[in-house]
Amino acid sequence: MLVSAKEMLNKARAGKYAVGQFNINNLEWTKAVLLTAQENNSPVILGVSEGAGKYMGGYKTIVGMVNGLLEELNITVPVALHLDHGSYEGAKAAMAAGFSSIMFDGSHYAIEENIAKTTELVNLTNEKGLSLEAEVGSIGGEEDGVVGAGEIADANECKAIADLGVTMLAAGIGNIHGQYPENWKGLAFDALEKIADATGTMPLVLHGGTGIPEEMIKKAISLGVAKINVNTECQLAFAAATRKYIEAGKDLEGKGFDPRKVLAPGFEAIKATVKEKMELFGSVNQA
Ligand code: G3H
Ligand code: ZN
Repeated sequence: MLVSAKEMLNKARAGKYAVGQFNINNLEWTKAVLLTAQENNSPVILGVSEGAGKYMGGYKTIVGMVNGLLEELNITVPVALHLDHGSYEGAKAAMAAGFSSIMFDGSHYAIEENIAKTTELVNLTNEKGLSLEAEVGSIGGEEDGVVGAGEIADANECKAIADLGVTMLAAGIGNIHGQYPENWKGLAFDALEKIADATGTMPLVLHGGTGIPEEMIKKAISLGVAKINVNTECQLAFAAATRKYIEAGKDLEGKGFDPRKVLAPGFEAIKATVKEKMELFGSVNQA
């Protein structure tokens, strides 16, 4: 059954490793992430953006699909189903549908409004035993319609939000959604150190996990990052594997046009990407 992300992230923060959040986009995606987590004995967080939620037929559909897969695939590792970059209304809808973890992305509000709305959602998620992620500063780039200017988070604002009792905190530290530009200056580790000092043992969240160099990932984990979000990298891997299948004319051979065959290379490519990230983040055998 689904669990909140609280225990797995506090364990990761204490153990100096990170749990991957892998955004899902359909059944095959979800199955690929879950099987890889089970095969690697790793906790995992399934991320669902509001756009993906609409695309997959609504939050209740997703909860039913995930709970069915957990049972049918005999998944025993800790799995959280997490609303990613949730609006205030989206957060409440996902809670009602049965998500076990919620991100309220209040970073576009003034800090006072972010605090007020986050306070309300802390109370609601605590009542239901769910985990809650908040955001301060913003993540650059664009993800499923979520656009951020990439402001570096202020350590005092991070402390104010952390002190409300959220489970985890996403802080803008120069990270960007999607592919990083050539002239990217890297993560703002000085800011991350200040935020970690200000928020104590709070598990910190690194968004925009695609394409960050391994040594930066490891340094971020050493400074308090315990959850790392990855979406674009799985999408690129899926698309490349599918293109290769089609360009090789495999769909024209026998029953190669069967969607279960057409989707198979992409499925395997997602699995390989997720495995590689779990190994890099250090979550293998941490279930
Ligand atoms: O919220 C989702 C993640 O931040 C995904 O970022 O697509 O750059 O890997 P990414
Ligand atoms: Zn994100």
